[in-house]
Amino acid sequence: MVRWGILSTGDNASKFAKDLLIDPSTRGVHDITHTLSAVASSTSLQKAQDFLSAIQAPTTTAYGSYDALLQDPAVEIVYISTPHSLHFQNARAALLAGKHVLLEKAFTVNAAQARGLVQLAREKHLFLMEAMWTRFFPLTQHVRDLIQTGTIGAVQRVVADRNLGRNIEELYGTEHRLVNPALAGGALLDLAIYPLTWIFYFLYPDRPALRSRPRVSSSLVKYAPTGVDETATVVVSFPETRTQGVATASLRVASDPTDPGVRILGDKGQIQIFGPAARPLGVAVVSYGGDAAVERKDFEIPVGHGLFWEADACARCLARGEIESDVMPLDETVLIMEVMDSVREGNGLKYPDEIESC
Ligand SMILES: NC(=O)c1ccc[n+]([C@@H]2O[C@H](COP(=O)([O-])OP(=O)(O)OC[C@H]3O[C@@H](n4cnc5c(N)ncnc54)[C@H](OP(=O)(O)O)[C@@H]3O)[C@@H](O)[C@H]2O)c1
Repeated sequence: MVRWGILSTGDNASKFAKDLLIDPSTRGVHDITHTLSAVASSTSLQKAQDFLSAIQAPTTTAYGSYDALLQDPAVEIVYISTPHSLHFQNARAALLAGKHVLLEKAFTVNAAQARGLVQLAREKHLFLMEAMWTRFFPLTQHVRDLIQTGTIGAVQRVVADRNLGRNIEELYGTEHRLVNPALAGGALLDLAIYPLTWIFYFLYPDRPALRSRPRVSSSLVKYAPTGVDETATVVVSFPETRTQGVATASLRVASDPTDPGVRILGDKGQIQIFGPAARPLGVAVVSYGGDAAVERKDFEIPVGHGLFWEADACARCLARGEIESDVMPLDETVLIMEVMDSVREGNGLKYPDEIESC
């Protein structure tokens, strides 16, 4: 049984909290249970209490400051779901308080901050993971199995896309966290992280001997009112395996929800993944040659949003005394942050100094 604390009462924190309260047996999980011990708001105690009323968690402790939650001995692991600009400082405070940490994507504002957190967690022997929930979907593990058993042959390219299709001016103005540079907004950190995680999951070689620094080229379209990127395209090349990934993401661009958001191309066929790249729902395997056969399999998300699978993975790591997940390894999180640093550098996207510092 794992005892969670949550920092923030935002939209995503609410989805995660509701998922924690769902009986794991509804998704066929019988080896672990989750307890929501505490929730903290940085704004007020009332906000935390309202959050707990809304999700119907009357026995969970509400706090009106993040520090107060971090001092609560009932909390073992902290889930942090604040704007990107605060991830480093919130996660550092949690680790210094001796808590394990599950930290929302994008992990930090830059790679230097990510490296700092990883070093601190390792020094203190505490669990730390980027909350890249998509990797823990049974669908994603099914795709990994298909690839490992050679279903589409050698993987040569991954093309992945994540768009919101929003009227940014009307919906987000200049202050919303998605467009606000002071909160590290923009499509790259918020959305392109998903296409990049698909690319790295299937193209970054498992064998250390084949690993070398990927080459990155990119282009960003800026949102004029605030200067963050509204659209991002990143091409990542892996020299040792001669493979390439193309990640596209946009707050503004609309896309057909029936199109596959992710395509994994092999020399014998391809895997198409349907549904949002963050929350995939179906897989089609297309085999090349003679009949060009297509096999489709849908993956229903049981009761809830689907954030519980990453929570289950954290619980299992804690039960086994592991401080890192091999599904979302910290070195890969840091490497992806380095890719995003180089995209920002190449396209002149800099955030205020206060949020870039360690
Ligand atoms: N995994 C997913 O599917 C998914 C989906 C959406 C977002 N996310 C990630 O989750 C995180 C939060 O996103 P969200 O959409 O939930 O954001 P949100 O609704 O704006 O919530 C952010 C919360 O952070 C807290 N906060 C602390 N300081 C703040 C500040 N200076 N400005 C604004 N908020 C502040 C606030 O809670 P208090 O006032 O209670 O402290 C606020 O409610 C981000 O890292 C985002 O990338 C993940």
